[in-house]
Amino acid sequence: MKKRDIWSSKLVSVYLIAMFVVFLVVWQIQSLQTSSTSPWETFVTEESASMATKLRESVTFLPLKDLRYAGVPMKGHTWFMSSLYDMHEQGEVQYQEFPTEATGGRVLCLRGHNRHDGLWNSYALAWPDTLPHNATLMRGITFVSYNHYDYHNIWHGLSAMMSFVAWHIKRQCGVPERWILYHWGEVRSSMAPWVTTLLAATFGVPVKIEDFERLDDDIPACFERAVVMRHNEGGMSTERRMEVYDLMRCRSRMFCEVGSGRDEGLKIGMTMLMRDGARSFKNASAVIGIFEEECRRVEGCRLMVAYPHNLSFCEQVKLMSSTDIVISAHGAQLSNMILMDRNSSVMELFPKGWKELAGVGQYVYHWLASWSGMKHEGAWRDPHGAPCPYPDHDRRCMSVFKNGLIGHNHTYFSEWARNVIKDLIWRKAHQDSYNPVSGLCGCP
Ligand SMILES: *[C@@H]1O[C@H](CO)[C@@H](O)[C@H](O)[C@H]1NC(C)=O
Ligand SMILES: *[C@@H]1O[C@H](CO)[C@@H](O)[C@H](O)[C@H]1NC(C)=O
Ligand SMILES: *[C@@H]1O[C@H](CO)[C@@H](O)[C@H](O)[C@H]1NC(C)=O
Ligand SMILES: *[C@@H]1O[C@H](CO)[C@@H](O)[C@H](O)[C@H]1NC(C)=O
Ligand SMILES: *[C@@H]1O[C@H](CO)[C@@H](O)[C@H](O)[C@H]1NC(C)=O
Repeated sequence: MKKRDIWSSKLVSVYLIAMFVVFLVVWQIQSLQTSSTSPWETFVTEESASMATKLRESVTFLPLKDLRYAGVPMKGHTWFMSSLYDMHEQGEVQYQEFPTEATGGRVLCLRGHNRHDGLWNSYALAWPDTLPHNATLMRGITFVSYNHYDYHNIWHGLSAMMSFVAWHIKRQCGVPERWILYHWGEVRSSMAPWVTTLLAATFGVPVKIEDFERLDDDIPACFERAVVMRHNEGGMSTERRMEVYDLMRCRSRMFCEVGSGRDEGLKIGMTMLMRDGARSFKNASAVIGIFEEECRRVEGCRLMVAYPHNLSFCEQVKLMSSTDIVISAHGAQLSNMILMDRNSSVMELFPKGWKELAGVGQYVYHWLASWSGMKHEGAWRDPHGAPCPYPDHDRRCMSVFKNGLIGHNHTYFSEWARNVIKDLIWRKAHQDSYNPVSGLCGCP
C-alpha cells in the first residue's frame, strides 16, 4: 500500500468512528426522549447489574476475633478486626473511620450477635450501592468499641469510651446515633451505669446500644458512618487526654445544671468517698474524725462524707465539683476524680498486701489522675491486715488481701492531710481561677 492510501484509509476510519459516535448520541437522545428502553440501554443495565451482583457477592466477612494474634491481642492492629489499620497522627487518638478515601469509600458491615465467641461474629467493607444481600443500612454515626476488659468495670469502661470523646473533639463534635460494644469480638449490651450516664451527658443524647438482637444471625448491618476504637487512650498525648476529661467534666456539670457548683465561702472542699464491704474502713468514724480535725484547722475548709453507691450521677457531679481533695480507698468510686476541677488532689488508701501482690492494676488511679490533670498525693498502705495462711508474699494471699479492710494511722493521716491542704492553698493562690461552665464546653 502506498503512503497516501494508508493516510486515506486512516481518515476513513476516523470518519466512520465519528459518524458512529454521532449516530449513538442521536440514538441515545431519541431513546431518552421516547423514554422507552433501547436494546443498548438494556445491555448497559444488564452489564452493570451483573457487576453489582458480583460486587455484592464479593463482600468477604472475616471473623471479628483473629486467633493468629491471640498472643498479642492488644498490640498493633490487635486481634479485633485484624485486617484493618488505625489512623494515627502523633499524639492523637488512634481510630478507624468508615467510609474514607483510604478504604475506597467503603462502609463497615458487621454480622452476628454471638455473646460467647467472637469467632462467630464478623466484619467486612462494602460499597454503599452494592451492600451484601439483605443488609440493613443504619443511618447516622455508629460508635464501635472494642474493650479487652469489662464494660461494667468503671475504670475499664471509661478507658474504652474516652477515645470516642477525643474523636468527638477532633471531628467537629459529631454525635453517635448508636453504640456497638465488643469484648473479644463478643457482643455486649450494657456498661456500668455511671459510664453510660457520663456518656449521655458528654454527647448530649441518650446512649443507644445496638446488640443486633432484632436481626437474624446471617443478616449484615452496614453503617452509613462508623468510628471504631480499639486502643483506648493509647497514643494520645497528655494534653489531648486532659481535653477529653475537661469536656466530660464540663458537659456533666452542664447536664446536671451544677454551674460553678460551689457554695459561697467554701475555700477547700475535702470529700471522703466511702465504700461498704471490701476495702471499707475498719473504723470509719475514727478515720472521718482524723480528717475532720485537720479540716477544722483551716478556715473555709469543709469535710463531706459520701457513699457514692447511694448517690445519683448528678449528686456525684455536684459533690465533686465542690471537692478539692478526694480521700478514698482504691476502688471504682475514685473514677469520680475526673469531675473535680483540674489540679485538685487525690489521696488513695490501700489494704495490706496490695503493693507486693496486686500488679500494675493498682496504679490505675495514679494514671487517671495524671490523665485528667489531677494531683495524685500518693497512697497510704495499711501495714496490718487479715492473716493469710501462706507467707505474705505468696500470690495466693491476694485473694485474702484483695477485699481486705483498711485501718488507720492517726499520726500519718494528720500529717498527710496537713501537707496536702497546705500545697493546695498555695496552688490555688498561684493559678488562674477555674472557668465555670459556659456555652457548649468548647463545641461550636
Ligand atoms: C435474603 O432474604 C430472603 C428473604 O428472607 C431470603 O429468601 C434470601 O435467601 C436472603 N438472601 C441471602 C443472600 O441471604
Ligand atoms: C472507732 O474509733 C473511735 C474513735 O477513735 C473509738 O472511740 C471506737 O471505740 C472505735 N470503734 C471500734 C469498734 O474500734
Ligand atoms: C448510704 O449508704 C450507707 C452505707 O451503705 C448507709 O448507711 C446509708 O443509710 C445510705 N444512705 C441513704 C440515704 O440511703
Ligand atoms: C495547675 O497548676 C499548675 C501549677 O501547679 C498551673 O501551671 C496550671 O495553670 C494549673 N492548671 C489549671 C487548669 O488551673
Ligand atoms: C504511723 O505513722 C507514723 C508516721 O509516718 C510512723 O512513724 C508510725 O510508725 C506509724 N505507726 C504505726 C503503728 O504503723
